[in-house]
Amino acid sequence: MAQLIIPCRSVTFVRALIISLFTFDKEGDYQLDSRHLTLPSLPAKESFVLEIDTEIYPHKNTSLDGLYKSSGNFCTQCEAEGFRKITFYQDRPDIMAKYTCRVEADKSLYPVLLSNGNLISQGDIEVSNIVTPSVSPFGGRHFALWEDPFKKPCYLFALVAGQLASRDDTFTTRSGREVSLKIWTPAEDLPKTAHAMYSLKAAMKWDEDVFGLEYDLDLFNIVAVPDFNMGAMENKSLNIFNSKLVLASPETATDADYAAILGVIGHEVCNRALCCLWNLILVTCRDWFQLSLKEGLTVFRDQEFSSDMGSRTVKRIADVSTLRIYQFPEDAGPMAHPVRPHSYIKMDNFYTGKFSIYLRSLGFLLSIVFQSNVLVFSFMKRVLISISKDMMSKLVTCEDFFAAMRDANNADFANFLQWYSQAGTPVVKVASSYNAEARTFSLKFSQEIPPTPGQPTKEATFIPVTISSSSTILRVTKKEEEFVFSDIAERPVPSLFRGFSAPVRVETDLSDDDLFFLLAHDSDEFNRPLVLNPKFIQGLGSVLSDSTLDKEFIAKAITLPGEGEIMDMMAVADPDAVHVVRKFVRKQLASELKTELLKIVENNRSIEAYVFDHPNMARRALKNTGSRFAFTTSLASLEDPSYVELALSEYKSATNLTDQFAALAALSQNPGKTRDDVLADFYNKWQGDYLVVNKWFLLQSSSDIPGNVENIHALQTTIIQVYSLIGGFCGSPVNFHAKDGSGYKFLGDIVVQLDKINPQVASRMLSAFSRWKRYDETRQALAKAQLEMIMSANGLSENVFEIASKSLAA
Ligand code: BES
Repeated sequence: MAQLIIPCRSVTFVRALIISLFTFDKEGDYQLDSRHLTLPSLPAKESFVLEIDTEIYPHKNTSLDGLYKSSGNFCTQCEAEGFRKITFYQDRPDIMAKYTCRVEADKSLYPVLLSNGNLISQGDIEVSNIVTPSVSPFGGRHFALWEDPFKKPCYLFALVAGQLASRDDTFTTRSGREVSLKIWTPAEDLPKTAHAMYSLKAAMKWDEDVFGLEYDLDLFNIVAVPDFNMGAMENKSLNIFNSKLVLASPETATDADYAAILGVIGHEVCNRALCCLWNLILVTCRDWFQLSLKEGLTVFRDQEFSSDMGSRTVKRIADVSTLRIYQFPEDAGPMAHPVRPHSYIKMDNFYTGKFSIYLRSLGFLLSIVFQSNVLVFSFMKRVLISISKDMMSKLVTCEDFFAAMRDANNADFANFLQWYSQAGTPVVKVASSYNAEARTFSLKFSQEIPPTPGQPTKEATFIPVTISSSSTILRVTKKEEEFVFSDIAERPVPSLFRGFSAPVRVETDLSDDDLFFLLAHDSDEFNRPLVLNPKFIQGLGSVLSDSTLDKEFIAKAITLPGEGEIMDMMAVADPDAVHVVRKFVRKQLASELKTELLKIVENNRSIEAYVFDHPNMARRALKNTGSRFAFTTSLASLEDPSYVELALSEYKSATNLTDQFAALAALSQNPGKTRDDVLADFYNKWQGDYLVVNKWFLLQSSSDIPGNVENIHALQTTIIQVYSLIGGFCGSPVNFHAKDGSGYKFLGDIVVQLDKINPQVASRMLSAFSRWKRYDETRQALAKAQLEMIMSANGLSENVFEIASKSLAA
């Protein structure tokens, strides 16, 4: 007899089960454990209707996964497997259905009721029809009936109920359809949604102009919620966003926040390309192993969007820096996994290394396609149409996408698919030689991918190397490969991997002189290397005063690599030494370049009203990086108190948060009265705005002040601030890796506590331990003890178990 097993998670309780006309209410009719509902004997019919009446307690759901309450409002998060916390369901991306959702609630407490698709009807519920009487003293219940016309996987389901107001606008698509746009927040925050609305319209327009993708529904809702595990979620017609990625005003958000809002709205607008209709066929991921197909394509598209809206070079530098800071270390640690993982315990854990999925995969492949000048619009159309046609199926895999792209562009990507199955960052060594007699120049490449857990040996993969100003792409596909260029009149200085054409670590035989030549002359701004030796200061000086360069690029060029990035290049990571040396270098640079830095601060001040556009952002970035350099250094050495005065005056005279926060950050670097006073002043001013207070927390938690762990204990606060507090603390290597183990103990204790409340956030915080073997023996022993302590905790979640056990086993 057929049986049915339906996944669920423990917060769901069954109240009634009805299959067609049979009611399952006797013991043995069904079995329920914390993961599954099993119906052992189904009716002997080809098809039947199963009705399940469940009872859940969203107000007790602190995991922020499934249906939960955030600041008094109900909302959902279903990707990857949150829907099974709402009801029993075949919760997989390939199971698609049409959804009708009726929401009933107390009208005064929850006046706004939203779900996916179109609003079919709404109204008050007559008292006689109320099954559960209202608990509200105000009385009165109402309902809304939503129907989504398209089939979708349940991870795109969404529901919101609460006290919200909307900023309304419209977007007319290129075929002339009017789409209603609504951004929902608590009424008092509505003024802060103007930039989000601008971003939404810009992204929709860009997607039409560049990719030819018109929005398919008549309504686009975005709801901002304060409690959200991720940044944002692309639910069909009802996107849910972390408030910090929606709300902005010049006084409460920095340029970085404005740019993040633009980028994340762009990301979610682009994300609807999967799943939506192509050639009347619904294209969606076959299973969660294909996650990189969905998110990789989307990240590529959002990066293109942000690049078109601002500076392409600066965007690329920022993205690559993220890849180097997060992805390369993950690739070299116990959680190393290919773009497409071979197995997982919790899919959520594979979003934590999201940059691996995003930045390395499709975006990378696509950028090669674009470099070969394929028209974006026709490219996209051809690829997606060919997916649906070739496969006659809607469930796509990474291979399908790869093949469609290859065929649609008639291109050869050789062994590119190795990226999907092999973990680790390839190391590419390049040796160059010039033969004056034969007038030939040769580049010899060798590639090696270090062993990773479960993968001791690796095959060669496809590595595109963009060289020279003509953007020629060399296709390195073997372990060793040589390219010889003929008729070369003199020894050239090659500019390799221009624009970061492959996500690899590169070791070249270029001399310091070659590198300085590139620093001064490379037409690819991205590829101007930064090298430390006496000429470096001179080189930086010329970059600082080069008025032809983009100001934001200069700001990036004078920013030293972070301590984590430097440690990543050491055989045994030494946080104390790196901290001291980096501080020393910064001080040297600041004192040598004092005149240039001060000029930069003077020349880039403005008292004009805040404008979010590239020239103004670039100006502020340069002024604030330059001034931070000078301030922090002088504060550290206390050589020149006039800088402190200057920083204070910048803080007081600032007309926007970008400038004010930069001054605050500089002033808060060193302990003392100035720091305490200015932090207290800032808090007093902004204590009513939790997003600004969050930044204030982050500033303090990430401080390198010795023994900062004590201050963090004093700052302990709500779950919303956990990211800023713990994440910030682990981002200060000197404090997190303190030799007395205080940082490790702090994180160990908090992970165990947090795991009971929110496993996704706990496992993300725990990742800070994953590279414990990179440190000296004393630190290794201390970190290992914490990991063992975590493993022995009672009732550990799968999320935390996966990271802790893999970290220990590596
Ligand atoms: N679909 C994801 C959101 C998501 C990720 C939900 C993991 C559940 C688990 C969304 O498209 C996304 O990736 N959002 C990013 C923002 C983006 C700009 C990288 C996020 O939430 O951080």
